[in-house]
Amino acid sequence: MATYVQTVDIGHFATADEREALTREALTREVRRGLITRPRSLSPWMFYDAEGSRLFERITALPEYYPTRTERAILAGYADAIIAAAHGDRSSPLRLVELGAGTASKTCILLEAASRISDDVAYVPVDVCPDALELACQNVACALPEVRIRPIVRNYVTHPLQLEPFDGTTLALYIGTSIGNFSPEEARLILRNLGTQLRIGDALLLGTDMVKDEPTLLAAYDDREGITAAFNLNILDRLNRELGADFDPACFRHRALWNSVESRIEMHLESVQEQGISIEHADLDLHFTQGETIHTENSYKFTDRSIRTLLRDVGFEIRGAWKDCRGWYTLTLARVG
Ligand code: TRP
Repeated sequence: MATYVQTVDIGHFATADEREALTREALTREVRRGLITRPRSLSPWMFYDAEGSRLFERITALPEYYPTRTERAILAGYADAIIAAAHGDRSSPLRLVELGAGTASKTCILLEAASRISDDVAYVPVDVCPDALELACQNVACALPEVRIRPIVRNYVTHPLQLEPFDGTTLALYIGTSIGNFSPEEARLILRNLGTQLRIGDALLLGTDMVKDEPTLLAAYDDREGITAAFNLNILDRLNRELGADFDPACFRHRALWNSVESRIEMHLESVQEQGISIEHADLDLHFTQGETIHTENSYKFTDRSIRTLLRDVGFEIRGAWKDCRGWYTLTLARVG
């Protein structure tokens, strides 16, 4: 199972060269950790280089990948209600802090709603991918020039956020079902760390994909056009580019499966033949048997009950929940209790 022991702590002020060196170091540590032990695994943050972030944007537009458009529809229908529930005191400033912001394509809906009730709105997007973050800032600056933007390039898993003090209400956004990419223990740790940065009265909006029929779930992670497969295989290209590895992506295949016991979709890369791989900059020589896999990602699916338990365990009180008409996706608003 993928764990998150390594980090890319690329500070906002690091130069592109410094970031590259830090990223290479983190990649090296991660392949040494994940590819030597069995079962082999890699951490999902490795998906999100510039190419991976671009491929993920394409996934979000696929007919089979329902989570993004379902979440967007809920936001479009209820953004005002969500902001009103989060921000009782309309006269005070409002700050939206988004973990894993990506390109922030849905966030504008909430920022617009925030701007309708407060004329002092700040936006703090946090992401591990500097290219995606750059796009996020451009998107928001263009649509909402009055919003103050303070981006942070950071791996928030291993380097918990440290927010500047803020005189007003903070609404933390953890949407796009990113929480589902972490094990229950990691998810609790992330939310607890986030909770330490919030004050009484601040809020969290959590986006979770719900358990549903297996064919719908599987199709979302194994689309007909093969974009999800390309996204998964891009990890190998990334290791070739950045660590001098000699993976032939044609010798691996994307596999998605539903693990009903753990309530999660699993993504693997399966070796289609026996093969040797060398990763030059990590000083590694690997041997893969036919059918051996690298576990690259989990996407946990939730129930109302598992959301309640999760939020209660980390000290949040649920104040509202919004779903689409099929009940496929939930946005839950919780306050620091
Ligand atoms: N947060 C997304 C999800 O779990 C990430 C994702 C979508 C993903 N498709 C993927 C990760 C395919 C790996 C492979 O839905």
